[in-house]
Amino acid sequence: MSAGIAVDLFSDTVTRPTAAMRRFMCDAEVGDEQQFEDPTVNRLQETVAELLGKKAALFLPSGTMCNQVAFSVHCRAGDEILLHETAHPLLYEAGGAAALVGAVFRPLSGARGRFTAAQVRQAVRPAVHYMPRSRVVSIEQTANIVGGVCWPIGEVESVCAAAREAGLVRHMDGARLMNAVVSSGTPARAFAAHVDSIWLDLTKGLGAPVGAVLAGSRTFIEEAWVFKQRLGGAMRQAGIIAAAGLYALEHHVARLAEDHERARRLAAGLGELPGIALDADGVETNIVIFDVEATGLSGEEFAARTLASHGVRFSVIAPTTVRAVTHLDVPPDGIERALDAARAAIGGRARR
Ligand SMILES: Cc1ncc(COP(=O)(O)O)c(C=O)c1O
Repeated sequence: MSAGIAVDLFSDTVTRPTAAMRRFMCDAEVGDEQQFEDPTVNRLQETVAELLGKKAALFLPSGTMCNQVAFSVHCRAGDEILLHETAHPLLYEAGGAAALVGAVFRPLSGARGRFTAAQVRQAVRPAVHYMPRSRVVSIEQTANIVGGVCWPIGEVESVCAAAREAGLVRHMDGARLMNAVVSSGTPARAFAAHVDSIWLDLTKGLGAPVGAVLAGSRTFIEEAWVFKQRLGGAMRQAGIIAAAGLYALEHHVARLAEDHERARRLAAGLGELPGIALDADGVETNIVIFDVEATGLSGEEFAARTLASHGVRFSVIAPTTVRAVTHLDVPPDGIERALDAARAAIGGRARR
């Protein structure tokens, strides 16, 4: 952790491998991954394929590459990808789908990062030669930037059914899929059953230092290998990092419930502070989004104060909107310290 940061709520991407995970990594059997000869990578891929009920899986360096590889397989240049207007590939992947795939995005609106089957039906283009070809529907599980919101299985099912009827491919960005699994009690393979491609991040809440795994049919994964190679994502003795993923899937999934409980506790505490606005009841997983406008502070001012006074780091996602993410590196008293920091930051400034 950087000097001066005692409680890092910036993101669940800040986790560091635990001592036990590092030991497990050290002992990993390795080989040349590009030649399919790394036993640990192979085992990770088999484990994730089994978890998701898919025929095959592919270890990639990041979730961003999973999205880009999946879109590369699914789309030709000029094709359209339907996704929520706050989705990660649209906002935070450096325009990759346009630059690498030549695909265009069709952003859909909708409360809490979700959209409906009716919106999909309405957005799909008629098959005429002067319109882009609607090709993919992408669902983000959990919807990150709106507050770690879960797509309930019924909504996944109805949106995917509408997409299938219209001849579209279904993709799930499962950066925090296991948070949705733990929060909803719905098995990962139940979500996966409705989509053609799906991936989960081993970093984020699972706490591995590197990597994500993309899954789908055998043909899809064979094609995905071509783009993995093309993007420079093929690795060599990658079992060292794949081992962290195996360790994470075995030891760090059930504990996500603890992150969710802490996020709810943080939200409840923040909701009691004057000038802070948030929907505490809407916190389902490990992300809390709140607005500080009525404190008279900007998000940046608020975050600078909590960091300077208590070493508590928040991230700022809009001028007065702040995000906190809980994860396995938050210390036992981290939530209390974060609330003390927030209280001190707003002092007597609240306008309500
Ligand atoms: C919803 C979502 N999708 C994709 C990604 C990209 O994952 P990675 O950081 O592994 O590239 C993130 C990262 O924060 C994310 O939150």
